[in-house]
Amino acid sequence: MHIGPLPTCALAQGALAWPGMTETIQNVQKRAENAAAKEADCKESVELIGDLEWLRDYELSEVGARVRNIILGYESGETDEIYNAPPLHSFACRQDTCCVWWYIVDEMERLFRGPSGRCTNPARAAIRLGFHDAAGWSKFTGQFGGADGSIVLAPEEILRPLNHGLEEIIEQMKIWYNKWGGYGISMADLIQMAGTVATVVCPLGPRIRSFVGRPDNYNACPDGLLPRVDSDADTLIELFRAKTIQPFGLAALLGAHSTSQQRFVDPSRFGDPQDSTPGVWDTLFYSETIGRAPPRVFTFRSDIVLAEDPRIYPEFRAFAGPGGQQHWNNDYAREYVRLSLLGVYNINNLTDCTWVLPPAIRPRFGEDGFPSDQWAVSAWENTTVNVPEIAEAVMAGNPITNLIDLLEPAVNMTKRALGL
Ligand code: HEM
Repeated sequence: MHIGPLPTCALAQGALAWPGMTETIQNVQKRAENAAAKEADCKESVELIGDLEWLRDYELSEVGARVRNIILGYESGETDEIYNAPPLHSFACRQDTCCVWWYIVDEMERLFRGPSGRCTNPARAAIRLGFHDAAGWSKFTGQFGGADGSIVLAPEEILRPLNHGLEEIIEQMKIWYNKWGGYGISMADLIQMAGTVATVVCPLGPRIRSFVGRPDNYNACPDGLLPRVDSDADTLIELFRAKTIQPFGLAALLGAHSTSQQRFVDPSRFGDPQDSTPGVWDTLFYSETIGRAPPRVFTFRSDIVLAEDPRIYPEFRAFAGPGGQQHWNNDYAREYVRLSLLGVYNINNLTDCTWVLPPAIRPRFGEDGFPSDQWAVSAWENTTVNVPEIAEAVMAGNPITNLIDLLEPAVNMTKRALGL
């Protein structure tokens, strides 16, 4: 049977080589058609991962088929589906794999949502932790590493410089695991669930499909698989391609920096955000990385070189433009489902527990009085004075109206200009 031409980069990545290849010729054809249409010049991530690489269509469980459809772009990676869990110690709860997660997620949500409505420092750290655990995998490391909990379970990993800043969230994961581990949950799932809970708690964040059932691994993943802030675009793009993530997928994932406030890239600017709305999942990260940003916004070198790269720039521009929020949320959810399952070889046996996530918060940013102190955050963004109390309050998700006078006289000028 003739298989349509696959784009060169899919071939170069060995997309056709997996166990059981001759038995899955239909799958190959479907993937070839899909890839040819969508990956004409290798911008979209459509490569199958884990056990989905070799399972035949009729062998796929409901979850296996769903994950495959999401990563191929046939089905959304987001859903609003939500239920209430039965009481924790009830028979009904014990019968349902997801039920205990409803209670764990409730605790996570309380830590991740700040009084201002913005998501907190632990939320941001949880999103980064989910990325750093899963990203410890590449096509060249075989069935080893990935979303396997090793970033917490293998003490060596946290000593690696690129994981600096994740210490507190790792301690929090251990606390949750000690409390809930008796219910049979894995650390790998705890980390990924925390990442998706944190994302939906950040206002405007997508409600990403969340699966459980990943096995844990106590061995450190191979070193050298995480991105460096000082790398060039080619190095970063190749690093992510080796994880099956193509440039447009990388563009979507980078948007997680929309919530971020760096601490260690430039310690003299501790707490300075990567766009002017830290703790909010909006597209200002994209428009401010390729365009103008207030002086306090600190853009990572890696984000600049990637945004300027012709393989990525069109997607930054699309996310920054009209309809960009929905486009980005869709793409991020799809790409995060992929990321959260890197190195997972039992995808077909996972359980979809998305219903335990909190609902998405979709206010119209800047309207409905949300967040109520945005004027003060904007004032802070337009100054360069280093005021640790304000940086820390924003990081904690606290309102900062009561601290803003610390920014005298620059803020008073801003307030007057705004008529406040
Ligand atoms: C080229 C790829 C990337 C590079 C070089 C990079 C680098 C960094 C660096 C240097 C920080 C600041 C750490 C600090 O000083 O506190 C950071 C923060 C962060 N990154 Fe990335 N990152 C990349 C991709 C990603 C991706 C794909 C995600 C998520 C899917 C992500 C999520 C985050 C989050 C949420 C933070 C904020 C963490 C916090 O506030 O504690 N990053 N990243």
